[in-house]
Amino acid sequence: MEEKKDIYILGIESSCDETAAAVVKNGREVLSSIIYSQIATHTLFGGVVPEIASRKHIEKINQVIEAALLEAHMELRDFTAVGVTCGPGLVGPLLIGVSAAKAIAWAADKPLIGVNHIEGHVCANFIEKKDLVPPFLCLIVSGGHTHLVIVEDYGSFRILGRTRDDAAGEAFDKVARSIGLGYPGGPKIDQKAREGNPDAIVFPQAKVRGSEYDFSFSGLKSAVLNYLNHARMTGEAVNAADLAASFQKAVVDVLVDHTVRAAKAYGVRQVAMAGGVASNSALRAAMRKRCESEQLSLTYPAPVLCTDNAAMIGCAAYYEFLCGNRSGLDLNAMPGLKLGEKPEYLSGGKPEDRSGEVGSLAERI
Ligand code: KG4
Ligand code: ZN
Repeated sequence: MEEKKDIYILGIESSCDETAAAVVKNGREVLSSIIYSQIATHTLFGGVVPEIASRKHIEKINQVIEAALLEAHMELRDFTAVGVTCGPGLVGPLLIGVSAAKAIAWAADKPLIGVNHIEGHVCANFIEKKDLVPPFLCLIVSGGHTHLVIVEDYGSFRILGRTRDDAAGEAFDKVARSIGLGYPGGPKIDQKAREGNPDAIVFPQAKVRGSEYDFSFSGLKSAVLNYLNHARMTGEAVNAADLAASFQKAVVDVLVDHTVRAAKAYGVRQVAMAGGVASNSALRAAMRKRCESEQLSLTYPAPVLCTDNAAMIGCAAYYEFLCGNRSGLDLNAMPGLKLGEKPEYLSGGKPEDRSGEVGSLAERI
């Protein structure tokens, strides 16, 4: 049989406040992954300022791409294709990555592949667990998105539930701000909660009546704000650690509960998590415990692969590449791209034949 040619993807990510580039071999092996985080800049303002983020991306993107190529011992001619996040995200930041990727694809004469950022988050699991193959259940919890999906094939999702209002990460960030922990709130609440009692305050669960796999975090957020206002008005002291732990428990309980119920209802034995909130230590521990007792296998990426990075984008682009999906140089930023939506790919792309078999991509490779 003819030997398979190695495929090297240069991945680029700039959808929010991380400027990142990576080189990924055959979808799963990360040869380099460079992340420039703008957190220190945005902390001064208590959240991401889109205009400042765009300017920082412009400043850093070429350095980050050069560093990723250097670390992978590669030059422009050496990689197979460029994959870039084209949405969802902030329009200005997205445009910087997309423009850089287009310029490189044109200059190096390589295929360009626009990637859905949320799908990228899911793909971080393929890097973490080399033998993970669809189908599996994935809980996606980031700063902008909360979804419970069955990953039916590479790049193909069946959405079981989603948030009706705030994303899980957004709830962490808002609650952290209300108790003066600053930005980004998730890691700070995670840390603070370790000193607190999760049963000190009973907050409402982030469920939606009648939609068994949907989430709603705005009621929980309001309950925290009401608790704080009440304490302020009555002059009671607030124990920030107890509040952080109790809020975190309310979020974690519903995330774990929905995920495990869905796995059982749909007969899926493999569970995964993705997105920044998937690095939360209480969520990881609670999900591990429940999955163990239900005999489900669980995987989640290392924290650095949970938050925004370009290795996951390189991985997602690899599977699009295998499907024959290519973007034109008219690829644009798509800030409102939804999970399951793809940028419009050029027609006539030829699927990469990795084995000669037919069927789902998961079966063919
Ligand atoms: O996936 P991500 O890097 O960016 C988006 O695509 O949104 O997620 C960022 C979000 C932020 O809301 C941040 O507060 C949250 O992930 N986050 C955490 C933790 N680390 C990051 N939330 C809870 N616990 C953490 N340890
Ligand atoms: Zn993200």
